[in-house]
Amino acid sequence: MLNWDEYNVEENESAMPPPVAQEVITPEVEAAPAPQAAAPAAEAPAVKPTGSAAAKAEAAIANLDVSAGLEELEMGAARLTVDDKAMINCRADLNQLVPFKYDWAWQKYLDGCANHWMPQEVNMTADVALWKDPNGLSDDERRIVMRSLGYFSTADSLVANNLVLAMYRHITNPECRQYLLRQAFEEAIHTHAYQYCVESLAMDEGEVFNMYRELPSIAKKAAWSLKHTHALSDPNFKTGTHEADQELLRNLIGFYGVTEGIFFYCGFTQILSMGRRNKMTGVAEQFQYILRDESMHLNFGIDVINQIKLENPQLWSETFQQEIIQMILEGTQLEIEYARDSMPRGVLGMNAAMMEEYLQFIANRRLTQLGLPEQYIGAQNPFPWMSEIMDLRKEKNFFETRVIEYQTGGALTWD
Ligand SMILES: [Fe+2]
Ligand SMILES: [Fe+2]
Repeated sequence: MLNWDEYNVEENESAMPPPVAQEVITPEVEAAPAPQAAAPAAEAPAVKPTGSAAAKAEAAIANLDVSAGLEELEMGAARLTVDDKAMINCRADLNQLVPFKYDWAWQKYLDGCANHWMPQEVNMTADVALWKDPNGLSDDERRIVMRSLGYFSTADSLVANNLVLAMYRHITNPECRQYLLRQAFEEAIHTHAYQYCVESLAMDEGEVFNMYRELPSIAKKAAWSLKHTHALSDPNFKTGTHEADQELLRNLIGFYGVTEGIFFYCGFTQILSMGRRNKMTGVAEQFQYILRDESMHLNFGIDVINQIKLENPQLWSETFQQEIIQMILEGTQLEIEYARDSMPRGVLGMNAAMMEEYLQFIANRRLTQLGLPEQYIGAQNPFPWMSEIMDLRKEKNFFETRVIEYQTGGALTWD
């Protein structure tokens, strides 16, 4: 917690660091007056800059057109109301956060900030010892760790890049953008976490970070995600037509529904299963924090998609729904292939067949969340402990104390 008293001390008090004498490095300066002349004298009047840059700056400020920033806005000088706001194709001023229209988006932003964490806080000592021990893990367990870091080390960059370079500008709502900015930072933290694991375990970083181009089961997933970012990242892409608005929905469903909603689940389950068996507990703890963030990203994305559907029902045609169902099925199939490749034999109390059913169960949930019919009738959840981990909230003390401290660390009290 900040203590404002610290900011009231006089400059000469011991709380201030002692002045550092500047070393003279050129002959010209060596011949200059004593060092105190270089420091600004307290009583000396400010000297205004002169020269052509100063004159140009003064002229530019004098001629500044304050209406220029409003030209793009249809609203002109009129004040913003909630009814002016919309999820896409909104013409109202996007620089004004309030009044809120989507309180859930703002709440998710607050929740994301309250759950802040950093990868370096996780102790990796036991993982390093286990990874170095030739008898510490089986080959199948090592394969899972390598594959997981191989996929995730670049996957979160794909998500972050899609977010800031493709999707962000088309979501025309400030409270949702506020969450997207928070999400973008969380994706950076996730990529940092994977890099931190790779570095801690002294893995071959070239091998890990190139798997998305070199290892077929990972490359296919990455290629599928990238395919859904291309249209929107074109600088000429604009929403506002039926086709373009549907393309935006494809992107949102491709990233929130499939990439973050399906592609992450085999790896998360495998690593968390390892952690439950007291193996690679540092990596598992990182994944636990990431999973908590990701389930919030997913829920936010689903809410955005459903809000767009609500505001633009014509986009959600029968043909389009069939197309979305196919996307979910494609994603599920790719993740099942990844499960088979990363788990050629039974390991950690699971096998590829169990994972296949779990992914079908997850796919059914994504379809239901989007208002679409389940496609894998009767698929059950063979890993109920995964739901327990996802449903646990940090305030129930599941996460460590030092992370809980962040919840109050961002707030000042004024009493
Ligand atoms: Fe992420
Ligand atoms: Fe995410």
